[in-house]
Amino acid sequence: MNAVNAAGWRPSMGDSGQATGGVATASGDYGLMLEEALSFELGAEGKCGVDLDAADRAPMPGLSKFLRKEAPALPGLTEPEVVRHYTRLSRQNYAIDLGPFPLGSCTMKHNPRLNEKMARLPGFADVHPMQPQATVQGALEVIEQLADWLIGLTGMASVAMSPKAGAHGELCGLLCIRAALDARGEERDVVLVPESAHGTNPATAAFAGFKVESIPATPAGRVDLAALKEKLGPHVAGVMITNPNTCGLFEPDMKAIADAVHEAGGYVYCDGANFNAIVGKVRPGDLGVDAMHINLHKTFSTPHGGGGPGAGPVVLSEALAPFAPLPFVTRGPDGDIHLVEEENRGEGHGRSFGRMVAFHGQMGMFTRALTYILSHGADGLRQVAEDAVLNANYVLRACEDVLPAPFAKSGPCMHEALFSDSGLAEGFSTLDIAKGLIDEGFHPMTVYFPLVVKGAMLVEPTETESKAGLDRFIASLRSLAERAKAGDESLHSAPHFAPRHRLDETQAARKPVLVWQG
Ligand SMILES: Cc1ncc(COP(=O)(O)O)c(C=O)c1O
Repeated sequence: MNAVNAAGWRPSMGDSGQATGGVATASGDYGLMLEEALSFELGAEGKCGVDLDAADRAPMPGLSKFLRKEAPALPGLTEPEVVRHYTRLSRQNYAIDLGPFPLGSCTMKHNPRLNEKMARLPGFADVHPMQPQATVQGALEVIEQLADWLIGLTGMASVAMSPKAGAHGELCGLLCIRAALDARGEERDVVLVPESAHGTNPATAAFAGFKVESIPATPAGRVDLAALKEKLGPHVAGVMITNPNTCGLFEPDMKAIADAVHEAGGYVYCDGANFNAIVGKVRPGDLGVDAMHINLHKTFSTPHGGGGPGAGPVVLSEALAPFAPLPFVTRGPDGDIHLVEEENRGEGHGRSFGRMVAFHGQMGMFTRALTYILSHGADGLRQVAEDAVLNANYVLRACEDVLPAPFAKSGPCMHEALFSDSGLAEGFSTLDIAKGLIDEGFHPMTVYFPLVVKGAMLVEPTETESKAGLDRFIASLRSLAERAKAGDESLHSAPHFAPRHRLDETQAARKPVLVWQG
C-alpha cells in the first residue's frame, strides 16, 4: 500500500519504498530529494577554488622550513562546486524556518529576526571580552538589564549569568548548594530527583559528586510528595525538580515540597528549562525555589539545538546568592557598570564557589534574549506562556481520541502534549509515527521520553504556531495514528520521501562513521 499524506497526496512508490514510481534516474536524485556525494568524492586533483600565481606561493623569507612537503588531503573543487555542494546539503535539512519543530522539551520556536539584527550590531557582536570595561559599558548594561528582568520575572534574589546552557546552569546551581553546605559545615551527599525529571538532572547531580536517589511519579504524572518526604533526612543536600515537568504538567505541590525540603535542611533546585509555560504567570521564588536555570535559548527564543550556542543563567535565592560564580556585573557609586572578576564583596559575601567559564557568558544570547523580552514587555511575555499552553492543549484535545494521552484526565497540560503508543496495531510503535511525520513534511516530535510513559510521544507546538499550522500538523498526526492502528505496512519503511529511509538507529548511535576513508 502506498503512503498517503494527510493532504491526500499519493505519490507512486517503487518496490524499494522510494517515491520513484519504479523509475530510476541517472543522477540518483528524485526531483528535490537530492542525492549528494561527499566533497571528497566530488573533488578531483588539480582543481582549486582560487588561482594563486607562483609569486604568491613562494614562502615569506624565513618561513621556508614550514613549507608543505605534500599537498593537504583536501578535495579539489572549484568555487561554484563548493557553493553548490553546501547549498544542496542545506536543502536536505529541516529547519524551524521551513516548518514546525514539535520536539517536546526543546521549545523550538520562531526566532524573531529583530533579535538577530540587534545581536549583530557591531557594539555587541564585535566587542572583545578583554576590552577595557570603560569601552563596553553598553554591552555590560545589556547584561545588567537582562539580569534585572530575570530576577523580576522569577522573584529571586540574584542571578548568575555566565553558565552557557541548561545543563551547565544545573551544575552551577548544584555547586552553589555544595558551597552553601560547606559554609554550614555539613556534608550532605544525596540529591533527590523525581522520575519525571529531565535526564540532565540526575546526570548533573552525579557529575557534581552527589548520589542520586529517585522519587516515583504518582499515577497523575506528578512528584509523589509522600515518597519524597520519606526520603528526606540529614544526608539530603537537596532536590532537583523540573517544573513544569517532562510530562508537560505543572507540579502543584511545589511549595509543599520546598517547605519540606527546607525543614529538613536541604535546598530546592528547579529545572526551569520549561519556563516558557509559566513566564509572567508564576514566580518560582514565591514557591520556595533556591536555584533555577533558565534556558534563554528556549524561553526567550534564539536557535536551540544545532542552531547556535545556548545560555543558562541561574537565578538564586537569598540563601544561595553569596555563593554565585564570578564574574558578575554590578553598578558602582560612579554609575559605571563593573564586571567583578575577583571576590571583593565584603564581609560575609566573599564565598563564591569560583568560576564556571573564562568570561561573562554569551553576549549574543544576552542581546537576543533582552530584545525578545523588551519587544514583548511583561504583558506580552504572559501572553507567550498562555499561547504556548493553549496550543499544546489544542493538540492534546484534537488527538486524544486516536492516541492515548495518559495524563489528559488530570486536566489541561502545560506547554507540551504527551501521548503513548498503546493501542496501535501489533508490531507498530512510536517510531513508525515519528518516521511517518517526515513523509508528511514535519520534523518528528520527541520520542520515548519521558520514560514514565510507554512509547512516549511528546509534542511541544510552542506559541509561535498558528491555528492553521496546528490543524495541518494535527491532520497528519491523526492520519498516522489511524494508519498505525489499521496496520498499514508502508509505515514500517517510512520515511519514503527523504534522501535516506529507515536507518539502523542503534548502529548509527553505537558505530557512527564520522570520517571519510578513501
Ligand atoms: C527540562 C530540561 N532541562 C534541561 C535541559 C538542558 O538544557 P541544555 O540543552 O541547554 O543543556 C533541557 C533541554 O532542552 C530541558 O528541556
